Amino acid sequence: MKQKIFITLVYFLTLTLLANCVMAQPTGKTKTEMYRPQIHFSPDAHWINDPNGMVYENGVYHLFLQYHPYSSVWGPMHWAHATSKDLIHWEEQPIALFPDSLGCIFSGSAVVDKKNSSGFGKNGKAPLIAIFTAHNLEGEKAGQNNFQNQSIAYSNDHGQTWTKYSGNPVIKNPGIRDFRDPKVMWYEPQKKWVMTLATKDRVTFYSSPDLKNWIKESEFGETLGSHGGVWECPDLFTLNDKGKKVWVLVVNINPGGPNRGSATQYFLGDFNGKTFTASHKDIKWLDYGPDEYAGITWSNTGDRKIFLGWMSNWQYASKVPTTVWRGATTLPRELLLKHVGDKTLVASTPVKELSVIYSKLKVIENLTLNGKIDLFDKLGLSQFPCRINLTFEKTDDFTLTVQNKKGEELVIGYDKMHNQYFIDRSASGKVDFEKGFGAKHVAPRFSNNTDIKISLVIDESSVELFADDGLTTMTEIFFPNAPYNKINLQSTSILKIKKLEYIKLNSIWK
Ligand code: FRU
Repeated sequence: MKQKIFITLVYFLTLTLLANCVMAQPTGKTKTEMYRPQIHFSPDAHWINDPNGMVYENGVYHLFLQYHPYSSVWGPMHWAHATSKDLIHWEEQPIALFPDSLGCIFSGSAVVDKKNSSGFGKNGKAPLIAIFTAHNLEGEKAGQNNFQNQSIAYSNDHGQTWTKYSGNPVIKNPGIRDFRDPKVMWYEPQKKWVMTLATKDRVTFYSSPDLKNWIKESEFGETLGSHGGVWECPDLFTLNDKGKKVWVLVVNINPGGPNRGSATQYFLGDFNGKTFTASHKDIKWLDYGPDEYAGITWSNTGDRKIFLGWMSNWQYASKVPTTVWRGATTLPRELLLKHVGDKTLVASTPVKELSVIYSKLKVIENLTLNGKIDLFDKLGLSQFPCRINLTFEKTDDFTLTVQNKKGEELVIGYDKMHNQYFIDRSASGKVDFEKGFGAKHVAPRFSNNTDIKISLVIDESSVELFADDGLTTMTEIFFPNAPYNKINLQSTSILKIKKLEYIKLNSIWK
């Protein structure tokens, strides 16, 4: 009898403890599947591609995404929705936009209509307006060329629910098959909205007083920039250059990227409310790695420009060996203009908010690299995800080899002879799901500093390299057969490391 009472007691105690544990969990789930990004947004389940409708409002960063809620491959697009207060921890929200009679919901943007120019505001509160492409799948299948049109929707409850405008579409297709991805901004000098739209091999600018009635202003880019593929997901904004405003036009392109497939190019220049004029002829890439695409910036963040992309590539996005979900976003990055000699470049660095997940920190100064160092041995720490910052005293070859017990490796380094950074994932693990995935990718070094400074952010299945304070950026995904657990740092010459910083990053899902 006593034994029975004891067992019952233990049983109820365990249940209470378990229930408490579950309830004590902060919002958001623990996501622990193999390859699950721990410091990047990825959906609980199913397919995502481009980030959409990124807008900051009422203390919340909104991130909408191209989403197929019924499988882990691309299908009729919806807008998924996630929110964050710090750009790092994300909470998934109900689906924001569903396909309608005009089509499924392709990429687009969102703005806060502060002056209620649209008239959709209620009770004196500014509405959120989403501007997106309605993609008619039947029209596409039937071989028509006007199946992409621009529509809008509004929200009066901070993005929780959306109503489509009854007068959609607001811009009708003039007969261009690729006519999509509207990015809208407020142009203060002429008090009007400006839309940058990807139209096949160029961008077309439209303007509107009320987000409903649009007129065409001009076209840009037919003979400028990279044209190895179709132009998609553009963005137009200003960056500060020593007190002066410089206009930046971002144009995603697929294929035709510097390391095959999808990539983000940009132009610097001037915009007068009507036309954009580039100030250079050379092609500029925001990220040289193969796995940052469809990147655009948040709306309504003042002078700060925060960029985020989809961390994949159309070459193999639907084949990557993840399980219940496919697709993740890059880290949010702050964009800044920098000068090197007579070149002006857009540099990207992880947003400062990343520090909310910093845990253990280890710093070693003045370390001499003579051959090979086992970094985790040296640091007495060995965990991913992590951020590693390194400053080398001179410009010379080095490699960082991230390895697992199976001998699979990802090699990141600098090649002095070619003045290039590189990431080689040829032997990084699962590579044969697509011919060409297992390759070495290179990116030019722009900085002319004598020392080299790099920052690496390594997650379960991705690495982001920010070299020379973000002048050269590369994003790559990888899929080892066993988790990586070691990093070797190597150089062929004697190389002094001024500073080595290791920061363990906490999972954003715990
Ligand atoms: C870019 C893109 C967009 C389009 C969307 C469809 O990755 O092709 O041009 O709107 O994805 O999902």
